[in-house]
Amino acid sequence: MTVCEAPGKVYLFGEHAVVYGEPAVPAAIERRATVTAEPREDDHVRVEAEDLSLDGFTVEYAGGTGDRPDVDVPRPLVEAAMGYVDAAVEQARDAADAPDAGFDITVESDIPLGAGLGSSAAVVVAGIDAATRALGEPLDRRELADRAYRAEFEVQDGQASRADTFCSTMGGAVRVEGDDCEPIDAPNLPFVVGFDGGAGDTGELVAGVRALREEHEFAADTVESVGDLVRAGEGLLADADPESDPEPALLAELGELMDFNHGLLAALGVSARSLDAMVWAARDAGAHGAKLTGAGGGGCIVALDESDATETALSFTQGCEEAFRAELATEGVRVVEP
Ligand code: PMV
Repeated sequence: MTVCEAPGKVYLFGEHAVVYGEPAVPAAIERRATVTAEPREDDHVRVEAEDLSLDGFTVEYAGGTGDRPDVDVPRPLVEAAMGYVDAAVEQARDAADAPDAGFDITVESDIPLGAGLGSSAAVVVAGIDAATRALGEPLDRRELADRAYRAEFEVQDGQASRADTFCSTMGGAVRVEGDDCEPIDAPNLPFVVGFDGGAGDTGELVAGVRALREEHEFAADTVESVGDLVRAGEGLLADADPESDPEPALLAELGELMDFNHGLLAALGVSARSLDAMVWAARDAGAHGAKLTGAGGGGCIVALDESDATETALSFTQGCEEAFRAELATEGVRVVEP
């Protein structure tokens, strides 16, 4: 039995614009998806997912991608979760040159699903890592990140950047620009997350920005402006000491860029009333800055605040279902001793 766990992430800057080749800086957070893989005698894949922050379900199916189980849980949930697990298993089989490998797989996650915290990437990264290790063919991190990206790309019909999967694999803060992905130094930033209990439809939101960008030059300019502010943010991180607590001046400057980034995302139509309400609650509570994270439409915001004020304010904000502090996960995917 092999158990691997991979972190979720917040976008410090750059979601959506990254789809058009601008840089983005996601940072891994200490909320993880844990995947257990146990090889089977046959070629079946049995998946148990007790807690994907939604109802649990247990299904067994014959391992083929067209062969869907008939279970009493919402279809989209099964489709989404099974799609990612399927794709991870396919990548592991391919990497280990074991096309008929079967597995008992268990998925547990404390990352809200589809809420901008990279839950699907964490499941795919931990799943490929656990399954390849279970077959005795562990992958190096770059290949793991690449295969996880290919799995997400396939499940999301091409609407995926390398940001989530690379960040979840490597941990810490990373910089992604097209196919170019690198870990970067970052101090332990005081992230606070607010979650509205909902989720956005990433494919739809990406398609919306794409249409806007094609229709209006000013929307294309907005995407480019996101790229400019990401470069400014990267510069600030590069000048900071990753070993010490971040200086107040650095937090203020990063926060200002996060506020700006949220405004540009809102202009591109991907914010939501609940997200705006949480962003404003965080700012009113004295956060250095706040923005939505991920695809938007619903889900999570991320704020910077070293005090408890933002978390407290968010927990009293109408529309915020959960508020929590999220430590930077300096370690990416890792093996858990069972
Ligand atoms: O909501 P998430 O965590 O899947 O992030 C989506 C980020 C986008 O930039 C909108 C799409 C992508 O794959 O980069």
